[in-house]
Amino acid sequence: MTAARMVANRPTEFRFDAADHAAISAFVYEEAGILMPPGKMQLVYGRLAPRVRAQGLTNFADYIALIDRDDDERTQAIDALTTNHTSFFRESHHFDHFLEHAWPALDQRLAARGKVRLWSAACSSGEEPYSLLMAMFGKERGNGQRLARTDLRVLATDLSTEILAAAKAGRYALDTASGVPQSLRSTWMARVGDQAEVHPLVRERVAFRKLNLLEAWPIRGTFDAIFCRNVMIYFDDPTKERLQSRLADHLAPGGFLYIGHSERLAASVAPRFACVGRTTFQKVAA
Ligand SMILES: C[S@@+](CC[C@H](N)C(=O)[O-])C[C@H]1O[C@@H](n2cnc3c(N)ncnc32)[C@H](O)[C@@H]1O
Repeated sequence: MTAARMVANRPTEFRFDAADHAAISAFVYEEAGILMPPGKMQLVYGRLAPRVRAQGLTNFADYIALIDRDDDERTQAIDALTTNHTSFFRESHHFDHFLEHAWPALDQRLAARGKVRLWSAACSSGEEPYSLLMAMFGKERGNGQRLARTDLRVLATDLSTEILAAAKAGRYALDTASGVPQSLRSTWMARVGDQAEVHPLVRERVAFRKLNLLEAWPIRGTFDAIFCRNVMIYFDDPTKERLQSRLADHLAPGGFLYIGHSERLAASVAPRFACVGRTTFQKVAA
């Protein structure tokens, strides 16, 4: 085994050296804002090796040349490189906060025929927006049916095409679904074979769209709450700051922003919010 066929001291099937890693890092940073420093070399290799194999190539240099000219393969590479880890009711204190502090006024607005707009930005496989809807619908089927007739919409976006397809399907392994509290699961999920399917009333409230948080957002109007969690950790400080500022622009005054447990607001953005809970912020009036 030659040195060129080692990554992090492990033998590898394909040649992958520091220059290849630098090229992939530059690509994923430019496309998605995601940082892949040299310490992530093994991770990059592990995620892209199946693509190199699927394309019948024998080394990464040829794969890099391929993604340079092939849009479809570029999409596949981004899908493979993104981290999609999520779960139902992840960081459940955010859903508790939303139900207690945001939802009563929003529910009243819906009852008075107003509209409510919520955004799960970087929604991954859909557990986040579905959790939010199940929390609002509650354990009574009748309450969900009432809300399904109102102007309540959840926008759920992600960069990864493949993960959005899974999100839209709304079917989960039983283990995954066990993260939904039993009282909600029995009302809003049904067993289909060896999976659990999200009820159509819940699924119909969500619009899943492909959207790169770094690019232009074809979004009109503002949101009453935005969940943008566990994606900024992959970005550098200027990217985080720009994103947070744009999220603030897209929140209604008094609207809530929920961010991931290890994420923080940039100093330039923080004055636009009051911190009202753990990684929970309320936009102050301009
Ligand atoms: C770790 S998941 C977080 C899912 C969910 N928000 C949560 O907290 O459980 C991060 C998601 O961000 C998405 N992502 C990464 N870079 C992105 C970008 N530039 N624009 C939009 N989504 C991106 C990935 O595809 C992935 O699904």
